Amino acid sequence: MIKYLRTVKDIDGDFAEFGVHAGNNFMRILREAKIQNKTAHAFDSFEGFAEPTPEDIDPNGECHYEKSSMKMDVDRFSMRLKESKKDNFIIHKGFLPESLKTESGLVLSFSHVDLDHYFPTLETLKWIWGHTSEDGLILCHDWFPEKTWEASLAIKHFMEEFGIKPIRDNSPWILFIK
Ligand SMILES: C[S@@+](CC[C@H](N)C(=O)[O-])C[C@H]1O[C@@H](n2cnc3c(N)ncnc32)[C@H](O)[C@@H]1O
Repeated sequence: MIKYLRTVKDIDGDFAEFGVHAGNNFMRILREAKIQNKTAHAFDSFEGFAEPTPEDIDPNGECHYEKSSMKMDVDRFSMRLKESKKDNFIIHKGFLPESLKTESGLVLSFSHVDLDHYFPTLETLKWIWGHTSEDGLILCHDWFPEKTWEASLAIKHFMEEFGIKPIRDNSPWILFIK
């Protein structure tokens, strides 16, 4: 991921991760944002997953990301960031895509989407596309081309609806450029 973050150093816009959990990956984004003098935005419900939709059920009828699983204490997350002695971050607590309604002014040069569920992945990708600078990057996790449910289905629908092709397709990652 760091190599992609470095390629957007001359592109206008902040960094964002959608689905941060404990911040293992967000810490890297934050570090590189500091170097580039940008803000790193952390989006998460911090209450785990919302209610799954039918698109989150696998062909055997199983759901792998149940409501409220992967909860994370937002104060613990915030403390972790503060301990890194960096102040170039904003935490956006709330369920996606609803929490994006108040973020109309945000401009991004790099996004990482790691939400697992179908509905927030699709709606967040659509929103990101409209808020990314030209040549900005969007990296998605949980891309398995053979899967017809969860985030993989959302990524397929995003590509179809917007007529977009990835610039890298390396499961479980897929990368788009605006
Ligand atoms: C797989 S974890 C993210 C892991 C993280 N990117 C990392 O690298 O450590 C998925 C996260 O997405 C969040 N999430 C899932 N659905 C969400 C939604 N609709 N709104 C906000 N956050 C959501 C969960 O709370 C969880 O923290």
